[in-house]
Amino acid sequence: MRIYDIIEKKRDGYELTDEEIEFFVRGYTNAQIEDYCASALLMAIFFRGMNSRETATLTRAICLSGDTVDLSMFGDNTVDKHSTGGVGDKTTLIVAPIVASLGCSVAKMSGRGLGHTGGTVDKLESITGFRTSLPTGDILAQVEKIGVCVVGQSGNLAPADKKIYALRDLTATVDNVSLIASSIMGKKLAAGAKSIVLDVKCGSGAFMKNEKDAELLATEMVEIGRRNSRNTVALITDMDTPLGNCIGNRIEVEEAMKVLKNELHGELRDLCVELSANMVSVCKKIGIPEAKKLAEESLASKKAFEKFLEWISCQGGDVGFLLSDDFSKALYEFDVVGKSQGYISKTNTEKIGKAACILGAGRTELGGKIDFTAGIRMHKKRGDHLKKGEKIATLYSSTTSDFSQAAQLFSKALEISTEKPAPTPLIYKTVR
Ligand code: URA
Repeated sequence: MRIYDIIEKKRDGYELTDEEIEFFVRGYTNAQIEDYCASALLMAIFFRGMNSRETATLTRAICLSGDTVDLSMFGDNTVDKHSTGGVGDKTTLIVAPIVASLGCSVAKMSGRGLGHTGGTVDKLESITGFRTSLPTGDILAQVEKIGVCVVGQSGNLAPADKKIYALRDLTATVDNVSLIASSIMGKKLAAGAKSIVLDVKCGSGAFMKNEKDAELLATEMVEIGRRNSRNTVALITDMDTPLGNCIGNRIEVEEAMKVLKNELHGELRDLCVELSANMVSVCKKIGIPEAKKLAEESLASKKAFEKFLEWISCQGGDVGFLLSDDFSKALYEFDVVGKSQGYISKTNTEKIGKAACILGAGRTELGGKIDFTAGIRMHKKRGDHLKKGEKIATLYSSTTSDFSQAAQLFSKALEISTEKPAPTPLIYKTVR
């Protein structure tokens, strides 16, 4: 078998056999297939697509490309959550401790930033000392002890996805249903949880820009979960505006802590309660209203916040520094102000994510370094009224004091109109 023939076949719009897909995944993981060949095949898949059988085979090949975690010691009590990627999405930092505080076991593999979107692993690594790479034995021991452990794609779990994900990030081949579904579900199946809650983002800041594509992705992933005996639920949620007010790494960790301390209400908290309720519901087989009440109680009693601190400290994070005023301080900051008066009627959230990357909050090259203090704090969001000269956002960076490019991109991302825009739903749909 030759990779050349596989690329040519997909380029011309034909279905690949299971053997061809497995040959590609095995060969690329073992470095027998070069990056340029893999890029060409990914681009052919991007344009020609894959059917459900091809997607299922790619998912299985990614899952079996390395070790798989056996969580059977926790019975059916294990639950995982995964977002398809967004801007300002810090939900894992909030839902993992909520759900663990309610007696479910969360052993989770998270990702790094991809394209304009942020990643949970980068946010966790912004906490000095936090270890995102742990041997499987340590992951299991931690879950048994405190109910939660979140790691990166370290060790030998789904190594194929680690390589393919990084290559897609650099070759504009991220936003494709089959590639996203197989990447996420390949990892989720390898990580071993019995129940999986998927947060499928939809809108200008998501890989899926409209509800129809988001539903297609959600249905594909729920079906993969079902075929592999996992209780899988997908929520299609709004990413037409950044989630919460902060975009970056340390400022997002701080915003997450405000929710956990029950000090911040609004859409970020509402979504986290909804996701937590779905996780607790599938895990404990109770109704959503009851599970929602439990999640609310965990936040109100600060049990979730206590669990968060226990988790961070257990994985080596410096809790003293995390709670200090210096944690998110950047060397430079810049205020973006309104140039005209009116309502913020639309936000191009992808552009806002890219502006955060320019400031240093994301990577622009493979293995690039992140400025954990870089980011954007939005003082005004979609639907808010703005006066000329009023502060819309503050940009932060410790790597550059030249804010012109990021500020320009950020301003271009906003549309101002005289009419107040109609509100959009936080959750469009649930796919079971
Ligand atoms: N998150 C993933 O894990 N994979 C993707 O392809 C996109 C988002």
